[in-house]
Amino acid sequence: MKHFLDINKTEVADLRGMIDSALAMKTARLGRPKGALDDEQPLKDHMVALIFEKPSTRTRVSFDVGVRQMGGQTMVLSGKEMQLGHGETIADTARVLSRYVDLIMIRTFEEQVLLELAEYADVPVINGLTDRSHPCQIMADILTYEEHRGPITGKKVVWSGDGNNVCSSFLHAAGQFGFDLTFTGPAVLDPEDVFVAEARSKGVTVSIERDPVKAVEGADLVVTDTWVSMHDAQSARERRHNQLRPYQVNEELMSHAKPDALFMHCLPAHRDEEATSAVMDGPHSVIFDEAENRMHAQKAVMRWCLGQ
Ligand code: CP
Repeated sequence: MKHFLDINKTEVADLRGMIDSALAMKTARLGRPKGALDDEQPLKDHMVALIFEKPSTRTRVSFDVGVRQMGGQTMVLSGKEMQLGHGETIADTARVLSRYVDLIMIRTFEEQVLLELAEYADVPVINGLTDRSHPCQIMADILTYEEHRGPITGKKVVWSGDGNNVCSSFLHAAGQFGFDLTFTGPAVLDPEDVFVAEARSKGVTVSIERDPVKAVEGADLVVTDTWVSMHDAQSARERRHNQLRPYQVNEELMSHAKPDALFMHCLPAHRDEEATSAVMDGPHSVIFDEAENRMHAQKAVMRWCLGQ
């Protein structure tokens, strides 16, 4: 069973194959209407369940459109409206869904839900975000970097802000794709030690630098994310804003990166908080390419899961 649970749990050759396949599928569609079928329809006769226990725009639409382009059908399910949200076990949910659908994507709160679903499902399960990771986002980000600048291997990526679940997936990717990652943010929001250690064990440099200006020196890519994520208590908003304000990505900070550095944000953004509009809409920014590439990268992930 080929589940796509995390980048650090997937073989490097498979990850590379997915990026290459995503780029090929994207290129083959150039100039076509969004709803046009791909030349190949590898998901013909396939039904895909898309489960959301949290809000989503990009993940929901990009998976849905991507499945349809590949000839498949989708069923978008809200966790609250399923028996899963009313006491049915995850194991039973996995066994039942496996009788109806060929593939399950889930966005959930706790990683444990994803892992249990994968353990009991007879069909592949894809991680559409948990409290600990967001691998589909980072597959899209790798694709985006490489489309613009070539191989990411050996490059310097800087994460500025909160060492959250998206940052964790960047750390997973650093180890697998072989790029260095510098985290800059307050110590209380450092990324998980276990992911830092794992990336380092794979031979890449992972640095923690409290000074954001020093951190971005020589950066090929600067990344940030919202200061208050979906799983964070809203009561922590003011404290987090005070802690993270020095790590805002603005034009002054970007001027210390390499002149051709890219800027990424997985979106949704709080404009002029974690990043200024001048950066988000400026010459370094590739944020809307990232959003589009969610669809292309996930199409490749789904094909891989189905053994194609
Ligand atoms: N980046 C991302 O996952 O966006 P959504 O929350 O809109 O799906």
